[in-house]
Amino acid sequence: MERTFLMVKPDGVQRNLIGSIVQRFEDKGYQLVAAKLMTIEQSLAETHYEEHKERPFYNELVSFITSGPVFAMVWEGEGAIAGAREMMGATNPQEASPGTIRGDFGQQVSKNIIHGSDSPESAAREIGLFFDEKELVSYDKSISEWL
Ligand code: PPS
Repeated sequence: MERTFLMVKPDGVQRNLIGSIVQRFEDKGYQLVAAKLMTIEQSLAETHYEEHKERPFYNELVSFITSGPVFAMVWEGEGAIAGAREMMGATNPQEASPGTIRGDFGQQVSKNIIHGSDSPESAAREIGLFFDEKELVSYDKSISEWL
């Protein structure tokens, strides 16, 4: 079982896409481990995107991700890191296939709706950056007593 960090970006929140996006991952069968609506501070944005520091769009990326609330999530499932990336589609929504989140909902690379971890290492790092250990909820959906 694998965990990944996913985040609806400010454009997705502004466009009321949180529910549609969560629905897709639930439909896939992944299990929600943690979620919160939050505003990212400058220092967290800079740390989160530090590997892109030298890229020409870095300042724009940091400015965008801090421009409004994001919906940060941790999801769990078999192959969830690569699987969620497939469901997100190509980074540039103009190149993303129909049926993917970016292909269905996006137009511009600078407003591409969702972020997802690209490797087990980045998933572990990003989950740790955005969530405390006690915010990660493990539960067994097959248990019926609590329904
Ligand atoms: S990826 O998804 O990390 O493989 O894609 P990459 O091309 O390396 O992009 C890294 C993050 O930068 C965002 N991005 C851009 N933002 C603004 N303008 C331009 N031109 C641009 N190109 C890429 C891209 O969405 C990635 O952000 P996250 O949050 O990881 O999706």
